[in-house]
Amino acid sequence: MNQKVEVLIDRERIERRVRELGEEISGHFSGNVVVISILKGAFIFTADLVRNLKLDAEVDFIRLKSYTGSKKGELRLTYRPETDLKGKEVLIVDDIFDTGESLEFAYREVLSAGAKKVKTCVLLDKEVEKRTELRPDFVGFKIPDYFVFGYGLDLNETFRGLPYIAYFEGVKNG
Ligand code: IMP
Ligand code: MG
Repeated sequence: MNQKVEVLIDRERIERRVRELGEEISGHFSGNVVVISILKGAFIFTADLVRNLKLDAEVDFIRLKSYTGSKKGELRLTYRPETDLKGKEVLIVDDIFDTGESLEFAYREVLSAGAKKVKTCVLLDKEVEKRTELRPDFVGFKIPDYFVFGYGLDLNETFRGLPYIAYFEGVKNG
C-alpha cells in the first residue's frame, strides 16, 4: 500500500514551542538541574530543549524499551543514569506521553535514586486513556491518537531524523 506522509507539526512550530518550554521550565528551578532524557525517542527534543534552558544543566539518560514496531511491548530498563541524583533537582524529558507507563517508570527510578525535586516534560501528549495517575508538568503539544514519527520518534527505527512530526495518512495508531 502506498501511504502518504502527513506533517502534523512542522519545524517552525516545534522550534517556537521548544523555546517557550525552555523559558517556562527555567522559572521552575533554582539554577541547577539534572536533565534525564529517556532514550531513544527524546534525544533530539532534549538536545534542543537544553539549549533553551536558562539553567546550569547536567544531562544524563535513562533507557526504556517499550515498542516492537508500532505495537506496544513489554517495558524494560536497559540503562540507568550514572549521575548521582541524591538531593538534586531533576527534569525528566520524554518524546511522547502515551499510556504514561514509561514516564511513570522513569519518575519512580529518579525518585528512588534520591532526587529532592522531580519535574517532567514531554513534547507530545497523545489523547488516549492513561494507565497512570501521573501527568507531565510541561507539555509541548497535545495530539490525536495517531502513531507519529520524526524529530527523534521512530517507526521501526526509521524516520527519527525528520525535522518535523509526521504520521501516515489514514493510519491511526500503527
Ligand atoms: P507510554 O509508556 O505508553 O506512555 O509510551 C511512551 C513511549 O512509547 C514513548 O517514549 C515512545 O518511545 C513510544 N511511543 C508512544 N507512542 C508513540 C508514537 O506514536 N510514535 C513513536 N513512539 C511512540
Ligand atoms: Mg520513548
